[in-house]
Order: sequence, then structure tokens, then C-alpha cells
Amino acid sequence: MLLGVNIDHIVVLREARKVADPDPLDALGICKRAGADQITIHLREDRRHIQDSDAQNIISLSNLPVNLECAISQEMITIACQLKPHRVTLVPEKREEVTTEGGLAVEGETSRLKDAIKRLQEAEIDVSLFIDPTLGAVKASLDLGVEWVEFHTGKYANIYAMLYSNLNKTHHRLESLDLPRKVLKQMLEDELYTLRLLSCEAMESGLRIAAGHGLNMQNISDIVEIETIEELNIGQSIIARSIYVGLEQAIHDIKHKMIR
Ligand code: PXP
Repeated sequence: MLLGVNIDHIVVLREARKVADPDPLDALGICKRAGADQITIHLREDRRHIQDSDAQNIISLSNLPVNLECAISQEMITIACQLKPHRVTLVPEKREEVTTEGGLAVEGETSRLKDAIKRLQEAEIDVSLFIDPTLGAVKASLDLGVEWVEFHTGKYANIYAMLYSNLNKTHHRLESLDLPRKVLKQMLEDELYTLRLLSCEAMESGLRIAAGHGLNMQNISDIVEIETIEELNIGQSIIARSIYVGLEQAIHDIKHKMIR
């Protein structure tokens, strides 16, 4: 199973001070040494972390394939076509969100998406759509002729955190829902079932499947068992752990959890 390491979070720290370090370019060699298969970056419209020069330098200097996440705006598609990463993952973007909160509204954005996908594919860039795990989104992605879909695992991660919050201190925001354990267990099972079923359907129709958002050392195991998911993109939890164990070890450890 392939691992894309999302290195935006390194740049979050740099941008907090608007200084020169930590430099995301220093992460490239470490990611490769530690066994990562891809570098993932998100060039946001508000440039809150990765800057245009970062994206350019990372894409030209990385010895791993680069997956550039961006919104479906004309500006972003033009930049992506110029930078020519290995893959572009189209994501929804809201200025006020802390992170990408949901999948693309693929069914409602068809003409904008068609146009963006055409431009990217003409520039010989593989296209992935970051979608919620729903049948409608998979079918719409198939109709749009993309190479990849990436399932948003945020809901799965949130349910997991609510269920095991005494073990896993993330996602406190949702503890207030206070649902009984039995209900949460069923919700987790349902979410996994949906991911399994849709990954299988999507793969059989010719799509390649990635997944990501909110995945970490604790919640990853059940996702790894879904054999039709080819790749995971993980950022926050790896960079957070790297503060204590170092980046190479943090990547190495999560990659170890991804062995099937
Ligand atoms: N995949 C996509 C498309 C994303 O937008 C993000 C968040 O930037 C991730 C994966 C990684 O999520 P996390 O940082 O929660 O691991």
C-alpha cells in the first residue's frame, strides 16, 4: 500500500513566524529514505501554508512523485498545468475552514470539473477527485473520466475518535455528541462497510483508489485491510508525531502499519 506524506503541516510552522524554517525541501529526502511513496501538498487559494515558490521547488526537486491538491479555480488549474506535478487532486475549498472538511460536490459541479479535468489531462497530469464515500460521487467521478478518486475518511476518523477517545486524544470537538458506544460501534462498522463496498465498485469500474484525512497510527488498521484502496495520504498525524520521534521515524512507523 502506497503512502503519500502531506508536508503542508511543516510549512504551517514556518508561516506562523514568516521565517525561513522549517524548510519543506529538507523533508523530501527524509520522506524518501523513510519509505514514503509520494509527496502531497495543498496549494490553497489563501496561501495559508504552501506558497507558489514552495510548490514549484518541491515539484522540481522531489525524487518522489508529487500529488498537488488544489481547488477547481481557473487560477489553480493554470498553476497546476504550468508546474506539471504527477497528479492533481481536486478538492473543495472554503476560506473559513481549518482543513478540507468534506468531499467535492461532484454531482453539482460537473461543468466546472469537466473543464478543469480536460485542461489537466491535456497537460498529461493524472487527475484525482477528493470525494465523500457515496455511490453518487463514485458514479459522477467515473462519468468525468478521472484516473483516481480519493475517499475522504474524515467521518470514519471522527467516529473512531469518539469511540476510543480515552485512547486517542484527537477530535475533541465531537465528544459533545456523547453517543452510546453501541451506536458508535455500529456507525464505525457502517462507514467501513461503505468504504469497502465503494472502493470495490470503483476499482472494478477502472478507477484507482486513494483515501485520506484524519488517519493516524491508531485508526489506520481497518482502512489498511480494504485491499482495493491503493494509497493513503496522511499529513497531520505524521508531522505531529515527528515533533517527538523525528520525521523519518514517524513515516517509517506509519508505513509499517500499512503492511498488508
Ligand atoms: N487528502 C486530502 C485530499 C487532504 O485535503 C488532506 C488534508 O490536507 C489529507 C489527505 C491529509 O489529511 P490529514 O492531514 O488529516 O492527514
